[in-house]
Amino acid sequence: MRHKIVNPDIQNYINTNLNADLHSLLLKKSPFPGVSMQNIVQQIKGKQVAQRKFPFLLQDGIIFPPQLNLEQSSSEKTALYKSEILKGNKFIDLTSGFGIDAYYLSENFEKVTLVEQNTELLDIVKNNWDVLGKKARFINQKLEDFLSENTETFSTIYLDPARRDQNKNKVFLLEDLSPNILEIQDHLLSVSEQVIIKLSPLIDLKYLLSVLKNVSRIEIIAVKNDVKEIVVFLHKNYLGEILCNCVNLESDENNFSFEMNAEKNASSTYSEPQKFIYIPNNTILKAGIFNLISEYFKLNKLHPNTHLYTSDTKNESFPGRILEMEVVDAKQIKKKYQFNIISKNYPLKPEEIKKKYQLKDGGESYLIFTQSKKGKIILKSV
Ligand SMILES: C[S@@+](CC[C@H](N)C(=O)[O-])C[C@H]1O[C@@H](n2cnc3c(N)ncnc32)[C@H](O)[C@@H]1O
Repeated sequence: MRHKIVNPDIQNYINTNLNADLHSLLLKKSPFPGVSMQNIVQQIKGKQVAQRKFPFLLQDGIIFPPQLNLEQSSSEKTALYKSEILKGNKFIDLTSGFGIDAYYLSENFEKVTLVEQNTELLDIVKNNWDVLGKKARFINQKLEDFLSENTETFSTIYLDPARRDQNKNKVFLLEDLSPNILEIQDHLLSVSEQVIIKLSPLIDLKYLLSVLKNVSRIEIIAVKNDVKEIVVFLHKNYLGEILCNCVNLESDENNFSFEMNAEKNASSTYSEPQKFIYIPNNTILKAGIFNLISEYFKLNKLHPNTHLYTSDTKNESFPGRILEMEVVDAKQIKKKYQFNIISKNYPLKPEEIKKKYQLKDGGESYLIFTQSKKGKIILKSV
């Protein structure tokens, strides 16, 4: 059925109200019989989100779902990255949602199936894929029911479990996600070579490895140093080393790949601050490879609990920020000056430091309050 909302007059109304105050718009009567103002505002919100999250959907005929479904969707950027590492014959997304992941991830597959329990949402995806000229089989079922009837095999199963419980709180244990991956992981690997699961950046990696079987790879994906996704790959019968890839999209930093057990066998070297100070990006911090990066990039660590590194010659390939700095005395910090203030393994928070030294936030220069093995130190950009 063609959705009324794609009628050109209604679309025109939506486009001319893209910057309108949505609260007052909601109080107005809809000028279009049979189409509620709530739905019109939903479309406006959808277009606003699409501008930053999925610009490929900014075209005529696309329908946007309610806010929660938009929030739960992957961004075009992370979906595109994941699509580059995938190809095969049959792709199935068991938790299609708004279908952003599925749209990109299935790009290099011949047959595509989408399963989604939410009928209205799947109808919207069907409409949109039609507009975009993308073909798939759409199944409106609970994935558990689909799996119990299914006789097919797949090359890749993708899941992006819903990360909210019934009270709409965010949850981070696999048992609390929908679906419960722990209950279905054996079944999934019996019908697919590969299973890919997208998880919250807050999930603990050691916990993941202790509960999931046949993990072959983990991707830690950030956009501009904000970790957005942990993506876990399970491979049928896989018992080998687990590869982890740290990726900071929209930055000029290199990816960093390592074997998960490498940190156990690595050790750091230590020194007082040298000419360059290295601040690892958040994917490296999430991976917890504090000794491995000291060893791999030949950098000295400042202190066992300070995840800052140092060297006299610059190692440009480091996945993080590199600053030229010197140790200063507190008395040398001029009041009212502007600095980016960082506090790492230091008793005061940046806000407290700002107050104590009467500093302003921002600018080009950095001040790092931290500890080396000798004790508390302050580092300042040179
Ligand atoms: C986080 S969203 C997926 C977002 C999607 N990856 C995207 O990029 O748009 C999760 C979806 O899984 C669906 N879902 C959760 N549990 C399910 C189940 N047992 N069977 C089918 N669908 C399920 C939810 O209705 C929700 O739409």
